[in-house]
Amino acid sequence: MRLIGIDQIIGSEVLARPIFDLDGRKLLNAGVSLRPAIVQKLHEKGISSVYIEDELSEGIEVTGLLAEETKNRAKLIVREEMQRLAYKKDINFSNMNSVVDNILDEILSRRIDMVSVHDIRMQDEQIFAHSVNVCVMAIALATKLSLPISKIKSIAMGALMHDIGKALLPPGLVSKSDDLTPKELEELKKHPVLGYNIIKDNNEASATTKIAVLMHHEHINGSGYPMGLAGDKIHYSARILTICDEFDTAINDKQNKNALQTTDAVEYLIGASGHVFDKAMVDEFIKVIPIYAEGSIVLLSNGNFAIVIKNNPINLTRPIVRVFYNPKTKTRYDKTFVLDLREELSIKILREIKVNVNDIME
Ligand SMILES: [Fe+2]
Repeated sequence: MRLIGIDQIIGSEVLARPIFDLDGRKLLNAGVSLRPAIVQKLHEKGISSVYIEDELSEGIEVTGLLAEETKNRAKLIVREEMQRLAYKKDINFSNMNSVVDNILDEILSRRIDMVSVHDIRMQDEQIFAHSVNVCVMAIALATKLSLPISKIKSIAMGALMHDIGKALLPPGLVSKSDDLTPKELEELKKHPVLGYNIIKDNNEASATTKIAVLMHHEHINGSGYPMGLAGDKIHYSARILTICDEFDTAINDKQNKNALQTTDAVEYLIGASGHVFDKAMVDEFIKVIPIYAEGSIVLLSNGNFAIVIKNNPINLTRPIVRVFYNPKTKTRYDKTFVLDLREELSIKILREIKVNVNDIME
């Protein structure tokens, strides 16, 4: 199985996983053939990528940390609570709490080596999915930093609610993807304080959760907002959220047009570590984020195309791959062959590529 963008579908692919809408309703079953009319419907529902089963990805298992049901329920609750907040100026904290308990139970019941990129490349790029993504990554990073479980839970709650203040901003402003006027930008920058004010008097929210929401846009060099705090003045919970928030925004751009590849997003984090992000935390974060997702297609330094079969937790830049095509000689390898890049040190991955595999496999 592998994940492909909707725009890469040519019409004969078979769905590898069911597709749910934001309300958790099943739209399509696994095994369905993706005819053009179905693809059109997926477009309309705002679904940008799907898992398919094809010859190239045969035998590749993509196992996420979270069950689809858990992800969908989490997105649904975040949406409900943001709507409740927008209309009734009220939030049901215990609903959020139960979502975090669910996510924590599922993640911590497995030993975390790394977050699957599939957990954070979700089927829709809305604010609710973003909150769940940030929550999953924050749990993984906080676990990697060996924080106690009570702190991990508080950080997870902060992650789930970090943008909740946006529910109090004009809807048009939040959904506007770019070209914000300076005045609109100032308005948008109010959301950490708005979010903090919503939960600051709530006894069910911990101090760590509250402070994480308030400080999630602060930068190590003092260039962030709302207070322009620097270094250790920024609470560690917020330093964790900033990394996860900006990483998810980079790879899941709202309109999915300017989304970075994971490799580029990781490079951005490394480049900005020490001045935007906490360097020690970035060092740990890149150990839990696999650069190349299982099922992704990559260009090797010897010119061949390969598909990633399995990540290697010790060295995330050197997964096990299956070589299937040489674009220079237009040779398709009838017998595809497997390379373990931990052992084949003369070959490296140059980058992930988006190719229409059907053109090659003809
Ligand atoms: Fe934010």
